[in-house]
Amino acid sequence: MATVLTGWKRTHMCGVITEKMIGSEVCLMGWVQRERNLGSLVFVDLRDREGVVQVVFNQEINDAGTFAVGAGLSREFVLAVRGTVAARSGAINDKLPTGRIEVNVAEARLINRAETPPIYIEDGADEAEAVRLKYRYLDLRRPSMQRTMRMRARVLSAIRRHMEEQGFVDVETPILTKSTPEGARDFLVPSRIHPGGFYALPQSPQIYKQLLMLAGFDKYYQVARCFRDEDNRADRQPEFTQVDLEMSFVEPEDVQRVVEGTFAQVFQDVLGVDIPLPLPCITWRDAMDQYGSDKPDTRFDMRIVCVDGEAKGCGFKVFEDTLAAGGTVRGIRAVGAAGSLPRKEIDALGEFVKTYRARGLAWALLDADGSVRSSFAKNLAPERFAALCERMEAKPGDALFFIADSPTVALTALGQLRLRLGRQLGLIDTNRYDLLWITEFPLLEWNEEAQRYHAMHHPFTSPMAEDLERMETVPGSVRANAYDLVLNGVEMGSGSIRIHDSVLQERMFALLGFTHEQAWSRFGFLLEAFQYGTPPHGGFAYGVDRLVMVLAGRDNLREVLAFPKVQNASCLMMETPSTVAEDQLEMLKIKLDVEEA
Ligand code: AMO
Repeated sequence: MATVLTGWKRTHMCGVITEKMIGSEVCLMGWVQRERNLGSLVFVDLRDREGVVQVVFNQEINDAGTFAVGAGLSREFVLAVRGTVAARSGAINDKLPTGRIEVNVAEARLINRAETPPIYIEDGADEAEAVRLKYRYLDLRRPSMQRTMRMRARVLSAIRRHMEEQGFVDVETPILTKSTPEGARDFLVPSRIHPGGFYALPQSPQIYKQLLMLAGFDKYYQVARCFRDEDNRADRQPEFTQVDLEMSFVEPEDVQRVVEGTFAQVFQDVLGVDIPLPLPCITWRDAMDQYGSDKPDTRFDMRIVCVDGEAKGCGFKVFEDTLAAGGTVRGIRAVGAAGSLPRKEIDALGEFVKTYRARGLAWALLDADGSVRSSFAKNLAPERFAALCERMEAKPGDALFFIADSPTVALTALGQLRLRLGRQLGLIDTNRYDLLWITEFPLLEWNEEAQRYHAMHHPFTSPMAEDLERMETVPGSVRANAYDLVLNGVEMGSGSIRIHDSVLQERMFALLGFTHEQAWSRFGFLLEAFQYGTPPHGGFAYGVDRLVMVLAGRDNLREVLAFPKVQNASCLMMETPSTVAEDQLEMLKIKLDVEEA
């Protein structure tokens, strides 16, 4: 059957034609990026995924039909040409790999026309994101989007290769499943065959991978789609991809070596960057104390310092009262920043820390000439202020900030202030990739609202053996055998050694407030499975989207997903979620009770 391409076979991609090919006959197919009609000559930039090449229609050489094709072109028309590669007749463009050549058209076929596109299909075009996402298929034609999506494919390919070389077996697990306790809300799918019954989309394959260890697979991995109904943020999508893995007969270090080895491979393959291994490791407690975050950005220093000793009896009531009430005083030092922080900015920083529940921000600017401007120094005897500065290792020119509050508030707010100052003062080297492990997370988190403990990671995470005896007496002090991987202040992934013993698993459920009956009704299949010879096992999962976001130097997951959802979890292109036909609802025995929008 004849098609529009009959008799024509593409010989090359547009972007790969070079001077070496001068004199060759080529057949190219692509989209019109740009056309310039000079009357008897028409210059067309023809684009495909490899780049752009200039093709030239010439009224004096072409037959009338062919020249008419060239003269009638517009942006994004789909065009096929046959012609000869020649040296550029006009100005050379050294910015373009094909900038020294052009293709003189002998024959042309207009394959398809295009409406004027609603966005410019070129990098640097300043288009509103909503329009880009509504016309995502056009947005994806832009070279930078093509590069990012192809980088993503290379990342996944490097990961798969590396995992398989190490003996990991790829096993797919169901998408229609049961609620898994990762802490977010589930997306539910109603069952037609079981009216009133629902599947949950997996928040992760956590339970399946543990069952696969029971099943003897020893080393499992999967590039897994996960679904979580939670508030979208720059680094969160309702639907995302994890590299999920699990191993039997292992300790935390065994899992960590596999994961960091994969990251090093990806960085080498994709960016040509060497990541020295093994990665540094700090405990959760140290990360919180020094950086005010469980995902510290260690590309710059500015660590938080405890000044309780210097604040005690210092004469400044705010500090003293906080200490007396069981609080703490912590500070950070911005090296050499005293001169670059005007008063208005300092006030803005004060407002900023309040959004993290801090009551206020005490500050001191130690000017280079030895003078001091400060919100609180006048309340202290000079030698007490000097002691505080000494503890902060302050030098003339530095800016100091202090927060007196509960430890959680003081650390969180200073951690955020540290990040803001790091960015604002240009302290972050964007060519640096700081990967590190955070270990010894608390097993439990107290939930004030529910008045009970939640698992900080998930309920299958094993407590550290050293802390087991405190599980029932001081549960809040028990540490977990859990570890997170952090890259440039972004949580890449987390994992743990699991509980492999049904008695300990039941103790854990009891701590989380489940009765024996509740635990069995919800996780009976797992507790039962644990009775049939469970190997000790542990694993990890990291977010592919987040990894690609950092590798591509982007700050939002929407930039690294082909078809992302926006803030309110809708897809602007498909217009999902959408209503469904009445008979579909009837089939599912679902009655809606929502106001018509
Ligand atoms: P966790 O819930 O920490 O662990 O998820 C692991 C990693 O998945 C990525 N991630 C997300 N990425 C984009 N959008 C989201 N909404 C989102 N939520 C999570 C992050 C995160 O670090 N089953 C456990 C792992 C294990 O214990 O083996 C789990 O899923 O990069």
